[in-house]
Amino acid sequence: MEKTILEVEDLVTTFKTAGGEVSAVRGISFSLKKGETLCIVGESGCGKSITALSIMGLLAANAKSRGNVHFNGKNLLELKQDEMRKIRGNDISMIFQEPMTALNPTFTIGFQLCEPLLIHRNLSKKAARQKGIDLLKQVGIPMPEKRMKQYPHELSGGMRQRVMIAIALACSPKLLIADEPTTALDVTIQAQILDLLNDLKEEFETSVIMITHDMGVVAEVADRVIVMYAGEVIEEGSVEELFNDPQHPYTRGLLASVPNVDDPEFKLNPIPGTLPNLNEEIRGCRFHPRCPFAMEKCVQASPVQTNRKQNHSVRCWLQEAEADEYSKCQPSSAV
Ligand SMILES: Nc1ncnc2c1ncn2[C@@H]1O[C@H](COP(=O)(O)OP(=O)(O)O)[C@@H](O)[C@H]1O
Ligand SMILES: [Mg+2]
Repeated sequence: MEKTILEVEDLVTTFKTAGGEVSAVRGISFSLKKGETLCIVGESGCGKSITALSIMGLLAANAKSRGNVHFNGKNLLELKQDEMRKIRGNDISMIFQEPMTALNPTFTIGFQLCEPLLIHRNLSKKAARQKGIDLLKQVGIPMPEKRMKQYPHELSGGMRQRVMIAIALACSPKLLIADEPTTALDVTIQAQILDLLNDLKEEFETSVIMITHDMGVVAEVADRVIVMYAGEVIEEGSVEELFNDPQHPYTRGLLASVPNVDDPEFKLNPIPGTLPNLNEEIRGCRFHPRCPFAMEKCVQASPVQTNRKQNHSVRCWLQEAEADEYSKCQPSSAV
């Protein structure tokens, strides 16, 4: 059994806003093993990025996290700024959605690639440059020596994203968090970047948290999946379980909304309705206003987590209803 490298327990992240307190992440828990890829999936606004930024200690000043984020025997939420800076870009790296905003337009690719090596690895300038060139080669960038001297705007979107990946991998992190790393790219480049991430993961034995709203990406890279809805985890399982036996109506809705490009009659089948306003409290299950199967109980009480199998859990009252139905069908031993 591989070692657990990250353990998130009951993570809560709230924002103070003019309109009151907003709970973006509402007590989520998950763990990640060495070399494993965990996908966090859910609609835009459900708290995926805030979960990642909470782990990285990169939240805005009006935000606060509580709970535990155990990494390498430390609770990251308790670390001081400078302790966290030593971990970021070294043990844990993050790739952001839009490489143009994450790369600094005023510095060359070479400078930005060498910076983490100079800070965290104490390499000489010459050694850092060589390592930078090697990294660019590894992520499939042609003419790496020339690229080192160029600025971000001189590269295409796909190339910039490769550079971001090279920077993130510079110090061989134990954990890589990729937040929608292919969303801004066209489909062909997206496929290339996902292949690249898969290859690099094998080579570096990195654990990956891949954030996406795209079930196609999940199918491509995930070992395990957590499905988030309005700041909560509503289903978790191995990628096989999630795709073959999805339980939560929301997960089923997400799977149904995967575009089938082979079907000429294809129509997008999104889940009707929108995410709730995060500063308003909803009684019962937070999905019930959109759920086609909502029962009285769903309006009254928040569903408990049910372990369906060892590697599959769901938060939905339908699980209990189904179990009741099942027990009714069993011959009663009481009589
Ligand atoms: N700086 C902020 N101030 C207040 N609320 C915020 C802030 N950033 C994010 N949020 C809230 O957190 C929610 C989750 O955001 P986010 O994690 O970015 O969603 P996504 O799943 O699309 O990555 C948003 O819907 C928003 O209501
Ligand atoms: Mg996001």
